[in-house]
Amino acid sequence: MNPTRHAAWTALAAHRDALADTTLRQLFATDPDRFTRCSLEAAGLFLDYSKQRVTMETMALLVKLAREAGVEAHRDAMFRGDRINNTENRAVLHTALRAAAPVQVDGRDVLGDVFEVLAQMRDFTGRVRDGLWRGASDQRIRDVVNIGIGGSDLGPLMACAALEPYGHPELRAHFVSNVDGTHLATTLSRLDPATTLFIIASKTFTTQETLANAHSARAWLVEALGEAAVARHFVAVSTNAAEVSKFGIDTANMFGFWDWVGGRYSLWSAIGLSIALYIGMDHFEELLAGAHALDDHFRHAPLDANLPVLLALLGIWNANFLGAHSHAVIPYDQSLHRFPAYLQQLDMESNGKSVMRNGEPVGCATGPIIWGEPGTNGQHAFFQLIHQGTRLIPVDFIAPIHSQHPLGRHHTLLLANCLAQSEALMLGKTEAEVRTELTAQGLRGAALEALVPHKVFTGNRPSNTILCERLTPTTLGALIALYEHKVFVQGVIWGLNSFDQWGVELGKQLAKKLEGELEGAPLQPHDASTSGLIARIRAARG
Ligand code: F6P
Repeated sequence: MNPTRHAAWTALAAHRDALADTTLRQLFATDPDRFTRCSLEAAGLFLDYSKQRVTMETMALLVKLAREAGVEAHRDAMFRGDRINNTENRAVLHTALRAAAPVQVDGRDVLGDVFEVLAQMRDFTGRVRDGLWRGASDQRIRDVVNIGIGGSDLGPLMACAALEPYGHPELRAHFVSNVDGTHLATTLSRLDPATTLFIIASKTFTTQETLANAHSARAWLVEALGEAAVARHFVAVSTNAAEVSKFGIDTANMFGFWDWVGGRYSLWSAIGLSIALYIGMDHFEELLAGAHALDDHFRHAPLDANLPVLLALLGIWNANFLGAHSHAVIPYDQSLHRFPAYLQQLDMESNGKSVMRNGEPVGCATGPIIWGEPGTNGQHAFFQLIHQGTRLIPVDFIAPIHSQHPLGRHHTLLLANCLAQSEALMLGKTEAEVRTELTAQGLRGAALEALVPHKVFTGNRPSNTILCERLTPTTLGALIALYEHKVFVQGVIWGLNSFDQWGVELGKQLAKKLEGELEGAPLQPHDASTSGLIARIRAARG
């Protein structure tokens, strides 16, 4: 059903108009319990949404919308293993990768398969980490290079960066994704083939970028150590055993997963092999356990006390009722520096859609543009626009209370900045406050009048703050699962299938055709721009 036809949608639009003149300052002034009322804790994550432009009535209407959209039924269908990815006729069961109780797909409990691969990962990662799995010249592995892209790269890369304190002291994790040869070349230039292990991570094992990088990495290794060395230096993670064999990796060195694991939801599967190698299997299982704790919460908590549901609803309120086009995610933790990039794929590949599950156009805005950088860096780059620009940009501030690297007062400064930003966005600075401040500084007359409008902050800009005690494998697992389910709930409300990604296919098909033309094959008819660019590139390359 078109989301705008729900009764709660109409009620929310009227409520938004009624609330138009109410500011966050007023909401805080009139309700001393607002923080308590608008905060929630689950699975080691604490959410404060009191700085969102909502009242209790807004929240009640949003929860009603979730109910009318059938969020509970869809959630149960996902956990049950129904084929909710209707355009690909697949179940969506990344939650089974971190489950404890049986999960059926087509009448078969898939947990046995999951545990089997986890055991294979435990055995392999243990041997590599203990120096028992050795390279072809009998040296221990010191560098692990994950070659993959999209979901086969961003999750493992983000998690390894986030959990660096848990990393094996003698192992380094590298990630090569871009088909730009610079990425592979600069990575390999720092490595010794004799001590390097490549993981070729690709669900389909047909992705152009990954295969190009894998073939070049293989050539680099074979040139140094000979063909026979491949078996000791290459492993694969895929659902496609035939293509893995065709590439020349023995399927004994392959870690499998299943079509019911979407690419952007796959870090919990063997796609997380690089994470498990780097932080060890025990910590990898803590990551799974953290996600499972959040799954349990999502499954069983009532909608109005359900973290991912509330995050989703607040996002819908901001996007569909307050007109926000984008959403900034700002981790106040340097080790989460790839978290926004990871979320970009998770959210934008899932909900960047304009037709509903039934193929009809969706009647409202869907997934927002997700972006962000760690604080405090972002403050000195784009925060000006968030504070005083003409667009409404809701922000998620994410901060661990304790640092992974305590260093003097650094973490106090970091947290103070985090809180200051959300406070400033909420409060703003009124004209009267600006006048008082400037007068106190001795400014008068025309000079004062000229400066006042520039120093006024409208405030009333919404944000969430998400705190955890520390960034650990468990809290990171919960944090990722929180956003996975947020995206899911939003997809349900917008009526989308959040689990396909047909929008990335057209570019892939056209690139395939253009490869040959750039290398001198007869030119095909294109638009004038593309033909002109091909001609220019061909002429310059000779
Ligand atoms: O960009 C499209 C996509 O299919 C993503 O969804 C996926 O994560 C990525 O390509 C990589 O795919 P694969 O793991 O099959 O190489």
